Amino acid sequence: MPHPRFALPTPPPTWSDIFGNTNPVEVEIGPGKGGFLLALARNTPGRNFFGVEILGRRAARLASLIERDGPGNVIAIHADITCLLPLMVWPASVTAYHLYFPDPWWKRRHHNRRLFRDDFTTALVRTLTPGGTIFLASDVEQYFTEIVRQFTGVAELTPFAWERDQVNRRGKPILTDFERKYRYEGRPLFYTGFRKGEERKIT
Ligand SMILES: C[S@@+](CC[C@H](N)C(=O)[O-])C[C@H]1O[C@@H](n2cnc3c(N)ncnc32)[C@H](O)[C@@H]1O
Repeated sequence: MPHPRFALPTPPPTWSDIFGNTNPVEVEIGPGKGGFLLALARNTPGRNFFGVEILGRRAARLASLIERDGPGNVIAIHADITCLLPLMVWPASVTAYHLYFPDPWWKRRHHNRRLFRDDFTTALVRTLTPGGTIFLASDVEQYFTEIVRQFTGVAELTPFAWERDQVNRRGKPILTDFERKYRYEGRPLFYTGFRKGEERKIT
């Protein structure tokens, strides 16, 4: 028997254990400072939002923002999504993943730190609900193309185009911090979405 301090809860908690309701759940991977997650949660009270941030100080800052001024439908934790996903997230339980500007880890010897590997993609798709979506944005065309190639290889996923269309309480578009900065700098940005469970059209 493992010591209770080192054991993961089995079975893992369900989203309704975590949020206290059965509303659909959207997960942002690497929310950074979390402004996007908070604004989206404020705009969408009928859904739950869960942020997973690997950097302790960013996660702590976001958690205290939520405590101070957050709506009740958002939670952020300090964790590595690649560990959390296979062990702690129920299959077919997440309505949407938001993945914006994942770190490209430029140096070849650091490529193993990139999020996108086959096992991660498999876990992501397994935990999506039927009809669930993945929203992806990047400023790094080469990495973006690699991620798209991985998703395109999954028969259950169908690509779709999307654009930012939500505004915050002050009428400003809801963007992530990196997105706002890169748009200001005029960098080309790459966006795509994938939906689970639709027939792939062969053209
Ligand atoms: C380039 S930043 C983008 C932040 C935010 N998405 C934005 O667009 O402003 C990437 C974020 O992903 C987080 N991150 C990287 N790997 C992660 C992992 N395995 N699990 C959770 N977060 C991760 C980083 O700490 C960082 O906050």
